[in-house]
Amino acid sequence: MKQILARIGKIHEESVDVLVLNFFEKTKDLTEPVKSLDQSLHRVIHRVLQENNFKGKALETQLIYLSKQGADPTLAAKAVLLVGLGKKEAFNLETLRRAAGKAAKEISRKGFTSFATLLPGTDNPREAQALVEGTLLGLYKFDPYKSKKEEDTREIDRMILICADEQRLAEVEEEIRAARIISEAVNFARDLINTPANILTPSELANQARQMAETCRLRCQILTEKEISDLKMGALLAVAKGSEEPPRFVILEHDPKQAATGKEPGNSLALDTIVLAGKGVTFDSGGISLKPSKGMYQMKTDMSGAAVVLGTLQAIALLDLPLHVVGLIGATENLPSGKATKPGDVVTSLSGTTIEILDTDAEGRLILADVLAYAKRYNPQAVIDLATLTGACAITLGRVAAAMMGNDKSLLDKLRQAGETSGERVWELPLWEDYRELAKSKIADLKNITEDVGAGTIMGGAFLSYFTEGYPWVHLDIANVARNFEEKPYIPEGGTGFGVRLLVEFLRSWKGSGLSQK
Ligand code: BES
Ligand code: ZN
Ligand code: ZN
Repeated sequence: MKQILARIGKIHEESVDVLVLNFFEKTKDLTEPVKSLDQSLHRVIHRVLQENNFKGKALETQLIYLSKQGADPTLAAKAVLLVGLGKKEAFNLETLRRAAGKAAKEISRKGFTSFATLLPGTDNPREAQALVEGTLLGLYKFDPYKSKKEEDTREIDRMILICADEQRLAEVEEEIRAARIISEAVNFARDLINTPANILTPSELANQARQMAETCRLRCQILTEKEISDLKMGALLAVAKGSEEPPRFVILEHDPKQAATGKEPGNSLALDTIVLAGKGVTFDSGGISLKPSKGMYQMKTDMSGAAVVLGTLQAIALLDLPLHVVGLIGATENLPSGKATKPGDVVTSLSGTTIEILDTDAEGRLILADVLAYAKRYNPQAVIDLATLTGACAITLGRVAAAMMGNDKSLLDKLRQAGETSGERVWELPLWEDYRELAKSKIADLKNITEDVGAGTIMGGAFLSYFTEGYPWVHLDIANVARNFEEKPYIPEGGTGFGVRLLVEFLRSWKGSGLSQK
């Protein structure tokens, strides 16, 4: 979208194609700005509401075309779009995001290219953020491999938010800027997730990281197979062994202090350090423990954790958050071959902990074992990993919230809160010692699966917890939310980018952001 503007003034004076008006269920009295618009429309809105043609139910829409005859000559709009917000008592930022996504798609399907809408008029600047996010995320399309682009939709190039209070204009503008950066970062993550695995190989994922880092002025280091092997990341290597495509280990760093002083890395001592770690399996066939072929194609999305780490780093670099944030990605394919790891093999991970690999399809935890051990060298105040780790996640939580586990109450609380605000919710599962015990192997330190104990998602977290001693840590299993199966108001089918908005919200509200004693 070319332009997103905040303006003071009357909505019907804007020269746009569509005026979008949001209504709660059973609204009878129009607010002042809508009343004045309605007058220049010969009370058509009033009539539609009175006659109950439009009830304001959540996501209900009604498009009213405006005829030029008899209309106020100053009115440029061709149509008014009424959008339902549902019950007033249930209203929150998510209501606005969904309404905006729905409206934007409707506008673009009808061939319009610009619209104006009213900010709700409470004093929460995040409402502007939600409206812009819902719009930009709802309009997302993935069509680079279509030789003929869809013709029945038009690109929307202008969105105007009418702000009632002049005092708040600067604040609203700032939220619009942030929402744009965040939505573009989510859509970048979605593109990576949706890209087929023959194109997005581990090396290509690393190239994408490097390109993004150059654009956003992040430090970027990419380790080759030889360097991964020299570091002794035996668990990541065990997964990569079956594939012809070499693995990559990607390190991205947003270091505002270094950028400001131009000093060498390592001078960011006064800023809190947060590490974000992502599972980057560009294709998960299961390896020798091969998955059934039905639905296997979906496993191109098994690098969603990595994509979310990349998207988040892009956003925080462009927002220039005062935090030292490190992104770590273990990228590999998981394929069967004559060289592949076999069930029963034992490997030594970076931390020295030995692992009996009983199922080569539980590869995510192997990769993260090395990534999480590597994270320790940053002496971080928090480490958050994201991974499409277990199918069981969808059994536990459906597709409504990601599964969360961790070792630090305050960190878990911060993420839960960021989940509520961002609309990307997380729900905690326990990591009691009983579960951790079950991950111990008879012949090695740990085993990567424990048969017949259930609790698949928790067992993934319990395994990872052995590699996270010494820092506050949260594990997010996003296997159930990384891919969307049916279109939602602002989440199209395919990769969702779930986690980018959650993490950006978490980092923006990090209490220790700014200077702290270390
Ligand atoms: N990548 C899968 C998990 C997954 C499943 C993600 C469905 C998205 C949708 C992971 O590597 C895996 O195969 N996990 C196994 C673990 C099991 C062997 C303990 C699973 O969930 O079946
Ligand atoms: Zn797997
Ligand atoms: Zn996997």
